[in-house]
Amino acid sequence: MVYLNGNFVQKDKAYISVMDRGFLFGDGVYEVFPIYNNNVFGLDSHLNRLQAGLDAINIKNPHSNIEWLGLIKKIISFNKDINQAVYLQVSRGCDDDRKHTHNILTPTVYIQSTGIQPRTKDSLLSGKSVISREDIRWLQCNTKATSLLANIMYSQEAKELGSEEAILYRDNVVTEGSSSNVFIVKKDCIFTHPKGQHILPGITREVVIKIAKLLNLKIKENAFDMTSLMNADEVWITSSTREILPITTVDNKIINNGLAGPIWSVIYDQYQSLKTLKAVSYTHLRAHETPEHLVCRLLLE
Ligand code: PDD
Repeated sequence: MVYLNGNFVQKDKAYISVMDRGFLFGDGVYEVFPIYNNNVFGLDSHLNRLQAGLDAINIKNPHSNIEWLGLIKKIISFNKDINQAVYLQVSRGCDDDRKHTHNILTPTVYIQSTGIQPRTKDSLLSGKSVISREDIRWLQCNTKATSLLANIMYSQEAKELGSEEAILYRDNVVTEGSSSNVFIVKKDCIFTHPKGQHILPGITREVVIKIAKLLNLKIKENAFDMTSLMNADEVWITSSTREILPITTVDNKIINNGLAGPIWSVIYDQYQSLKTLKAVSYTHLRAHETPEHLVCRLLLE
């Protein structure tokens, strides 16, 4: 079952108009929520990013956060898998004709969920391979827009070359992956590109940064170049569906003797503990503390 504009219907019975601007222009934003043991992991962070995306492209949020949560809970209840990835898309809606400009329209809302099988730690110890490519995307990569033509071309090329991901660089500076954020470790310090117009502010990236800080690991949100990537002690990519993946080959060059590194291992274990914790009581939240932060603190106290 999927959700489309107020109705839960079979996927093959869910239709949109050819006038939908999501179809014609990719005029919309989306979110991917990981679900573990039927709990939404990082709910608030994902809903905040959805709101930021809608604001950025001037679409009024069609639902309150409580309503979104209700829809997500309902859609995951149709699926037997305990671990799922919910895809939620809001497009600007249908106009009466195809034109670049638009009036205020009723947004189209689509939600689906698919089962995911998180990879085991053992299966990750030898790491994954990636390719690198020049980042030719636009300068609003912080908006999670459905218009993903460049990203899907990079992903497809990586897949055809037998690689997990394409890591992108702009003016020789590593930005992110085609559908992930990138981290490196050099001399016990973790680096990742700072937030801004060149990268999507990944929710997994944010959780990793919090874990690293709470574990007193050195972490800097500083840009690094391709030479640093190629000479790194460890390379990882992060995303809601891939979690934290160690990368041991970049453009056929082997990193860290082809083995996942010790800092990845510590962060990975901590991330797994966070996933398994059930919903946290919001009454324990300290001011400005997100639920994930609280969980990290409770785990480490
Ligand atoms: N992609 N950067 C890009 C370009 C992405 O598309 C994604 C996620 C990320 C990681 O963000 P997060 O940790 O919040 O998942 C970074 C999703 C999973 C997708 O497009 O399916």
